[in-house]
Amino acid sequence: MTMNVIPLALLLITPFDRAIFRGESCLSTSYYGTYRDGSTYQAVYAPEHACMDNWLSDFAAESATISGAFQPVQQLVWVEEESVDETLKSQAVSLDAGLDSFLERLSLSPYRTLDQALEDHEQDVLVYGKEEQHYELFYRSPHAALLSVSHDKARIIDTLLPRFWRSIILPTSPVDYIPIPLYATQRIRDVITGVKFDPVVASLVNSLSVTQMKNDIRFLTGEDGKSGIVSRHSFAEGSRIAASWLKHQIEDTGAVCELKPFLSGFAPNVVCRYEATVNTSETVLISAHYDSRGSFGSTRAPGGDDDGSGTTGILSIARAIGAKGIKFRANVELVLFAGEEQGLLGSRAYSRELKAAGSNLTLVIQADMTAYHALDEPAQLGLPKTIGSPEAGDLVSAIAGIYSPELVVGYTSVCCSDHQSFHQQGFPATQVFERVGPIVDPMYHNSGDLSGREGYDFEQLKAIAKVQFATVLHVTGFDITK
Ligand SMILES: *[C@@H]1O[C@H](CO)[C@@H](O)[C@H](O)[C@H]1NC(C)=O
Ligand SMILES: *[C@@H]1O[C@H](CO)[C@@H](O)[C@H](O)[C@H]1NC(C)=O
Ligand SMILES: [Zn+2]
Repeated sequence: MTMNVIPLALLLITPFDRAIFRGESCLSTSYYGTYRDGSTYQAVYAPEHACMDNWLSDFAAESATISGAFQPVQQLVWVEEESVDETLKSQAVSLDAGLDSFLERLSLSPYRTLDQALEDHEQDVLVYGKEEQHYELFYRSPHAALLSVSHDKARIIDTLLPRFWRSIILPTSPVDYIPIPLYATQRIRDVITGVKFDPVVASLVNSLSVTQMKNDIRFLTGEDGKSGIVSRHSFAEGSRIAASWLKHQIEDTGAVCELKPFLSGFAPNVVCRYEATVNTSETVLISAHYDSRGSFGSTRAPGGDDDGSGTTGILSIARAIGAKGIKFRANVELVLFAGEEQGLLGSRAYSRELKAAGSNLTLVIQADMTAYHALDEPAQLGLPKTIGSPEAGDLVSAIAGIYSPELVVGYTSVCCSDHQSFHQQGFPATQVFERVGPIVDPMYHNSGDLSGREGYDFEQLKAIAKVQFATVLHVTGFDITK
């Protein structure tokens, strides 16, 4: 790298290497997390200048990128191409298709369209590298990029992204690399060893009601016209209506719920808890995100599949807990996150809070997109390949084989829902997804993501919610009081 001016900060982007976190590497105190880049993962560091020389000799990955920041770094954002099926890529509109058009939108003022800027003779803002530039790019591959934007831009970045891309907002200070402790992994292995068909569990999970799910999802998407919800985007009024409604529904089942704000302007997380009937710190958490994203330029964001499906699944589990008066022998939390679409923000705040409180979280299962599969395909359950605990995935897979044998279970390259936040805090976590393979839902991140459409399969939604529910019942133990 040749530089005439000394950069304000250095960024190092290199494949993840666990060895960096052993020993004395100065890089271990400048780690900003690991992010997906096509089929590989990149770790991001912002080391001191003096650290670079040491690093180069110790951990030189040939593919490493070193970049300098020449403007003050405000907010680092990782953007990545989603893993989508080829059939969807061909449908992408050309204006919307790539990173270049995204960068162009980003370089404009946040609330102005290109046409407005041109009308106001502000052509200069279109030229990269001028004072008006609103971002700095540090890394770019065909499938991902790392950039610095203003904090305001970071908040709305999901509305500027091309259709099949997503953004993750990096932490504002370095994070520790926290591996999953051995005892937590062993705890899950022990459950796997002991798990076998339980007729009581089967009857409980089979009681999840598809009729009720259809009503619930139509309220959340606004399809039934009763909720007045147009969008559950984290900034939209509809997301607040949804949060308050979800809180009340789950409270009615015997949980203690709280709306937990995490960042001003964003709708809150909905955190509900059933206290254990015995004296234990152990907590099992199942979750989904209730915020959504619509088409570029549209205010409508019904999020029927993403992630109204996971949210409805969690709600159906709560309704069954209430109907049967289930009391758990460990603490159980049902959490519906907001800010997922802007970069896992709600779950990041909550997972950090639990870590700081020394919470004994032994399992997290996030449901994100569970209802859709291609018309000629059977019902499926996809588990994450890389981000997440393999043992948690093994447990979910074993439970699926027992209680939802109709699901074809396998791995998916789709990556990085709210379970990633927990994984990064060293909690065993996994995700349940609708497909063994990439995203194939043509209404993904689209204002047409409704529940009443071809391919939206309530039986699959139920089968996956059954797996989430049965896993909780097996891990915690329970009593029925009604
Ligand atoms: C619960 O267990 C903890 C740790 O084992 C103990 O300190 C506490 O006194 C117990 N509480 C009750 C109510 O038994
Ligand atoms: C967490 O809960 C498990 C299961 O009850 C228990 O074995 C373990 O000791 C607890 N760990 C901590 C750190 O409290
Ligand atoms: Zn989602």
